[in-house]
Amino acid sequence: MEHIWKEEVLRLLRSTDQAEFIELLQLADRIRDEVVRKQVCVHGLIEFSNNCSSHCLYCGIRAENKNLQRYRLVPEDIAEVAITAANIHGYKMLVLQSGEDPWYSVDDLSWLVKEIRKQSKVLVFLSIGERNMETYDRLYQAGARGMLFRFETSDPDLYRILHPNSSLSLRLEHLREIQRIGYFVATGSLVGLPGQTAESLVNDLYLIRDLHPMMATIGPFIPSKNTPLCNESPGSIALTLRMIALLRLIYPKVRIPITTALEKLGGLEVRERALLGGGNAFMLNLTPSHVRMHYEIYDGKNSTLGHIHNEESVHSLTHLITSHGRNVCKGFGKDFTLSAKDMDAYCGIQ
Ligand code: 5AD
Repeated sequence: MEHIWKEEVLRLLRSTDQAEFIELLQLADRIRDEVVRKQVCVHGLIEFSNNCSSHCLYCGIRAENKNLQRYRLVPEDIAEVAITAANIHGYKMLVLQSGEDPWYSVDDLSWLVKEIRKQSKVLVFLSIGERNMETYDRLYQAGARGMLFRFETSDPDLYRILHPNSSLSLRLEHLREIQRIGYFVATGSLVGLPGQTAESLVNDLYLIRDLHPMMATIGPFIPSKNTPLCNESPGSIALTLRMIALLRLIYPKVRIPITTALEKLGGLEVRERALLGGGNAFMLNLTPSHVRMHYEIYDGKNSTLGHIHNEESVHSLTHLITSHGRNVCKGFGKDFTLSAKDMDAYCGIQ
């Protein structure tokens, strides 16, 4: 039976029929409304280091890029930004992201997570790349409860080309371990990578479903200067919107953030299309202004003010969300995508 569905998903993904596209977005919107209702979560993102020991061909902060000004925030400063975000700005879920940066020891990161948890009520998601299993364990014990960890592509051959010295199976092993420990997982893939096929995009959607993450992030590839893929074309906006809508059909209860990469390519107008086509979360960037322009995983990553946390961006995002009859929740809230058991697991944050 599943292969019949897969064929249809593939057809819809490839379809250039405008009426069918609009119908697909509307169907995703209806399913979102039935299954996860009207809560739209706004997460905070803190990019605390752009040092990276990894070699992903598409990524602007890859180790080989010698033309990037590198920065690192010390744990005390990261904690301060996070605690302010939670206690003053009201965020309930924060993603602390960096390149793969071994400068931060497991003790440093544990201290950071504990400090944030001690001083605020916030769900701490980490996005720090591949670390050893003991580190994931220790950080969970310190109080981190989520891990953002994309598998990037479900095509093992493409994965190997894009990630020298690594493999999809290793990536998935990390993901399963993170899940086994008990983290809420956010995972997903890139759309429009050079060499990626429509079939592999369909497999990405089914892999997300099979991994049953609480959140799935799908964003377009955007070329980044000083990388081997700098002259490639970016992923398509329409294709990314179709991926989001189809994911909502295939795995209805998942939280789908509208990624900054999609907003970057499509302009802030695309937010509305994604919000009305299956998406139900956003991220605002809280990285301190003196460093954030250096977190260039793709060109111009943090140059759009609408993505940065400030009075105006919060206001316009809130307006967008409420003007469509939805509710803003700055993170977790009473969340329809989580079971009561999950909520308990997350230390009573309401
Ligand atoms: N375009 C879009 N997304 C990118 N990422 C890295 N480089 C790029 C790029 N050039 C994404 C990866 C990674 C996340 C933190 O950023 O999917 O998991």
